[in-house]
Amino acid sequence: MCQNHGVAYIKPGMVEVQSIEYPKLALGDRKCEHGVILQIVSTNICGSDQHMVRGRTTAPAGLVLGHEITGLVIEAGRDVEFITVGDLVSVPFNIACGRCRNCKAGQTGICLNVNPSRPGAAYGYVDMGGWVGGQAEYVMVPYADFNLLKFPDKDQAFAKIRDLTLLSDIFPTGYHGAVMAGVGPGSIVYVAGAGPVGLACAASCHLLGAAVVIVGDMIPERLAQAKSFGCETVDLRNDTPLADQIAAIVGVPEVDCAVDCVGFEARGHGSEAGTEHPATVLNAVMNVTRAGGAIGIPGLYVTGDPGAKDDAAKEGSLSIRIGLGWAKSHSFYTGQCPVMKYHRQLMNAILYDKIQIAKAVNVEVISLDQAPKGYQDFDKGAAKKFVIDPHGMMN
Ligand SMILES: NC(=O)c1ccc[n+]([C@@H]2O[C@H](COP(=O)([O-])OP(=O)(O)OC[C@H]3O[C@@H](n4cnc5c(N)ncnc54)[C@H](O)[C@@H]3O)[C@@H](O)[C@H]2O)c1
Ligand SMILES: [Zn+2]
Ligand SMILES: [Zn+2]
Repeated sequence: MCQNHGVAYIKPGMVEVQSIEYPKLALGDRKCEHGVILQIVSTNICGSDQHMVRGRTTAPAGLVLGHEITGLVIEAGRDVEFITVGDLVSVPFNIACGRCRNCKAGQTGICLNVNPSRPGAAYGYVDMGGWVGGQAEYVMVPYADFNLLKFPDKDQAFAKIRDLTLLSDIFPTGYHGAVMAGVGPGSIVYVAGAGPVGLACAASCHLLGAAVVIVGDMIPERLAQAKSFGCETVDLRNDTPLADQIAAIVGVPEVDCAVDCVGFEARGHGSEAGTEHPATVLNAVMNVTRAGGAIGIPGLYVTGDPGAKDDAAKEGSLSIRIGLGWAKSHSFYTGQCPVMKYHRQLMNAILYDKIQIAKAVNVEVISLDQAPKGYQDFDKGAAKKFVIDPHGMMN
């Protein structure tokens, strides 16, 4: 029997690398003939994992984490027709059947058949269908023909693997946030959050032709990272209101488009930057987005938050000034990014050197054993995207 090791959530503030079961090509008692087993080449730590590890979700102890997976196919079920053993593939973090009405409409983030408790599933994530995560050496991927993106040339792909590893989540997610905010040539954009998703979104805004991309955060190293590839930045610890800081950059206190790359663990602005105020970003983006503008919201909002300060927020109810958004005819777009909608195009943007996405988000490759330290450093606000290389195949 092959060995497998994975990163498990133990309790708030703690993850551990454990010996875990080698994946079976099975769904319960049934053989999963449409699935494959992957030897994992790279698997990234995400801000979404941090919500669980900080104890801000109902994730159970022992959950094997990891939804950002790139790997080599080492076994394929009988019904897998177009993916073969030896292929190097990117796995969208959304698990999708390819057969339900939402999948058929390209809405793979809310597949109706892969999670008995709600639409949408992901590997290694609370409430997302119980699928085993991929911060591990091996993982099982169902509906392989539909889900997987095969890289056209393995040698070429290994040469750009630090960039391509970002196709499983944050590059498409950041790009989706920008697209949903209506970013295009000449746009002036505000991106809230300079974590990996915010930085990937800012780089995507440049790819889409934005004229000015203003990134806001309260961590100076992360803002410096945004500056390193041509973004303007605003430090939200500053007492000057966000609108005035935007006016100092573009001459008016508003932007065409805004993207929330923060989510429900948002901090306040100015003197409140040290404490959590979950509706801050949603209210701020309504405040600074022009009338008629659109707002992309890839930042995560939950239906259950045991760590929230008040009872309403414990159920995901936040104090949002929806009247302002209504008055300005704003459009809002929320939810999981349907990765498959974008990953092929963004792969080509990487392979043909149209974007340096690993550099923008500052990828740092670590071993599986270093994952617990990666979680800690990321939680402290390191201006890095940690990528786990469980078999030492990335160099
Ligand atoms: N929709 C999707 O499909 C999808 C996919 C991946 C990640 N996400 C979510 O995107 C969000 C960002 O992910 P990440 O990996 O970059 O996380 P992260 O925690 O590293 O980054 C969040 C950043 O927001 C900053 N921040 C806090 N309050 C702020 C405020 N009021 N204004 C501006 N910045 C503020 C933090 O300092 C931090 O740098 C998370 O909520 C994550 O769960 C969603
Ligand atoms: Zn992720
Ligand atoms: Zn489906």
